Amino acid sequence: MEIQIQPNEKQRAFFESQARYTAYGGARGGGKSWAMRMKLVLLALGNDGVQILLLRRTLGELRENHLLPLLKLLNGVAKYAATEKEFRFPNGSRIRLGYCDSEGDVLQFQGQAYEVIGLEEATHFTEKQFFALTECNRWSGSMATPFRPRMYLTCNPGGVGHEWVKRLFVDRRYRENEHPEDYLFIRSLVFENAYLMQNDPDYVRTLLALPETRRRAMLYGDWSAFEGCFFPEFDYGKHTCEPFDIPREWIRFRALDYGLDRTAVLWLAVASDRTLYVYRERTASDFVLSDAGRLIVDSTPPGEQIRYTVASPDLWNRRQETGRSGFDILTAAGVRALLRANNARIPGWRVLREYLHLSASERPRLVIFRTCTELLRCLPLLRFDPNVAEDAADTPHDLTHAPEALRYAVMSRVPPNRPRDAAPRESVYSFPPPRRPKDDDFSDWLAY
Ligand SMILES: Nc1ncnc2c1ncn2[C@@H]1O[C@H](COP(=O)(O)OP(=O)(O)OP(=O)(O)O)[C@@H](O)[C@H]1O
Ligand SMILES: [Mg+2]
Repeated sequence: MEIQIQPNEKQRAFFESQARYTAYGGARGGGKSWAMRMKLVLLALGNDGVQILLLRRTLGELRENHLLPLLKLLNGVAKYAATEKEFRFPNGSRIRLGYCDSEGDVLQFQGQAYEVIGLEEATHFTEKQFFALTECNRWSGSMATPFRPRMYLTCNPGGVGHEWVKRLFVDRRYRENEHPEDYLFIRSLVFENAYLMQNDPDYVRTLLALPETRRRAMLYGDWSAFEGCFFPEFDYGKHTCEPFDIPREWIRFRALDYGLDRTAVLWLAVASDRTLYVYRERTASDFVLSDAGRLIVDSTPPGEQIRYTVASPDLWNRRQETGRSGFDILTAAGVRALLRANNARIPGWRVLREYLHLSASERPRLVIFRTCTELLRCLPLLRFDPNVAEDAADTPHDLTHAPEALRYAVMSRVPPNRPRDAAPRESVYSFPPPRRPKDDDFSDWLAY
């Protein structure tokens, strides 16, 4: 087979690299995914029997970004086995497509061997997942000629894996037993993608219009833009909208994070396409609980049907002095259908991150009305906890309340039978009972 391709200079460097780990990263639209696809196909054609694994975080992304283009490109060249999700070449080479939506999903590759692993959007993978995959990156025994196992990564700044990708490839800070010569970083810029500049010059204008931090990261590939930022996924342009009238049939619920210092209440609605909308917020300082209860009731117009209010679990504790709990006080104030929030922090943040993560179609699953200024102020300012991996810092404390209410809200939508580690197995917080998610599509369960 002859493929006519014209890689740009950076793509050529990516093709030529034989480093143990090559990362092609930086700005959006630089041509990274194209380079990854072509590189793996060239390797499969040029090396008899090479076993290749190409991974993305979710099945949906994999399908859009790689399966469909590969089906087109390899038509008549390699056979696609749908069950195994793999392309089989006549020379014994194989490109298997996979995804790893939860931390534990990498285990499915344990014990397998691939000479080449391609990790697309590597910053969407955790460090643990990356290291687990390096163990599968070895001689498979099906090649007749010697071949040095290697991994190719593509990435944009931001995401749960931002820190480890930056450490290994950008900052080049190595731990014991990591060898600097194993890591090569190729920086990509959208301006270098002649194809895109020619066919979609507006795309650069779109990147230019992004808010400062995101623009630095997405247009110039600036890895320090998101330093310590807990939700680099948050994109004001995509995750907010002007207020509109919520259709009556959408399910509405509220989420409450109560604290005497500061209380945050959010009103949410579930659209018919299952997108979550935060349509109202109230915050208050130095409010006793009965005042908070009144605030919630008074801020909800009489005709508005609220299914439930998910609230901080400590409100269920009884005060020794009075024998009453926060639940009793709120109920007396007229807040009905109170549900105890699932307060598992790290799983909760992960679920929220999934909501903010834009799928290949760039369709947001969580949209916040621009009138919810407190939530919109806090969400981008939330920082990583320097001591607890994957947790948000508790300081400055006033930033945490609205995001925590949002975390309770998204956790209340997690199906109870999700068997993965992103959410607890048993959950009484989902309302109404969800339909079972398709087994193979993680993105699906978010949206029930
Ligand atoms: N050398 C090339 N020849 C032809 N088309 C190309 C080339 N490089 C990139 N493209 C095309 O440019 C577009 C953007 O490239 P691609 O999706 O690979 O960028 P990306 O860096 O992965 O973007 P993102 O950061 O959004 O993931 C795609 O349509 C891709 O097919
Ligand atoms: Mg890409």
